[in-house]
Amino acid sequence: MKEHVCSNYCELSKKVAERIIEQLRTKPKSLITIAGGETPLGVLKYLSEHLVSEDVDYSQVKFISLDEWVGLDSNTYGSCRQTLNDGLFNNINLTSDQIIFFDGNAENLTLECEKVDKIICDHEAIDLIVLGIGMNGHLGFNEPNIVTTNASIVKLSDVTKNVMNKYFNESMELTHGITLGYNQILQSKKIILMASGSNKRSIMDEMKRVKVSYSLPASLLKYNDALEIYIDEEANIENGKDQS
Ligand code: PGA
Repeated sequence: MKEHVCSNYCELSKKVAERIIEQLRTKPKSLITIAGGETPLGVLKYLSEHLVSEDVDYSQVKFISLDEWVGLDSNTYGSCRQTLNDGLFNNINLTSDQIIFFDGNAENLTLECEKVDKIICDHEAIDLIVLGIGMNGHLGFNEPNIVTTNASIVKLSDVTKNVMNKYFNESMELTHGITLGYNQILQSKKIILMASGSNKRSIMDEMKRVKVSYSLPASLLKYNDALEIYIDEEANIENGKDQS
């Protein structure tokens, strides 16, 4: 497990975005996943500004969904798809077949899972996945003590329900999420876990200390050779110790 401690959120975002650009330069036909939460917003901004100016060939990349709130699609402000549309997809020239996303509002969610499973299976594995970490250590919507393999519909934990309103401009009553499963995440060829801000310090510390267990989903990553952690000083426990 490699860890990059960055001095602030801006540097963290730039480093992860540069890592994605490097991936595209090495393998233009990559399958890439970027989480639709708050943490990667700076990465999306950097990519929006630099993919064109740095003449990166993104004509063959495919972006595949990490997760989505059941009941929501790109029309709802705060949905994962809307966040990625707004942050990146709408700012560059992608064709519709370059974006494969869960439609959380689809009538048949099983078909949504199968659609995403097939793309990953055809590609063998995701080339690069950029993850945030939930306050309870969840990855995508793989909540504590839920075991998934491939794309799945899962019940949201109370922790997730408590924090979810930060994403929306109206109050939401959401109960389920649709998410990539552990196999798809853990078999990704490169895994980037991002953490920023002091509110992520204790869960990052716990992830590093605890035994690997589904009770803290992010702990499943820690002995994975593909993992690189990008963390800012506020989220880094060493920083917390120094200050106390
Ligand atoms: P955040 O979400 O980036 O909005 O903090 C992380 C997560 O819940 O996985």
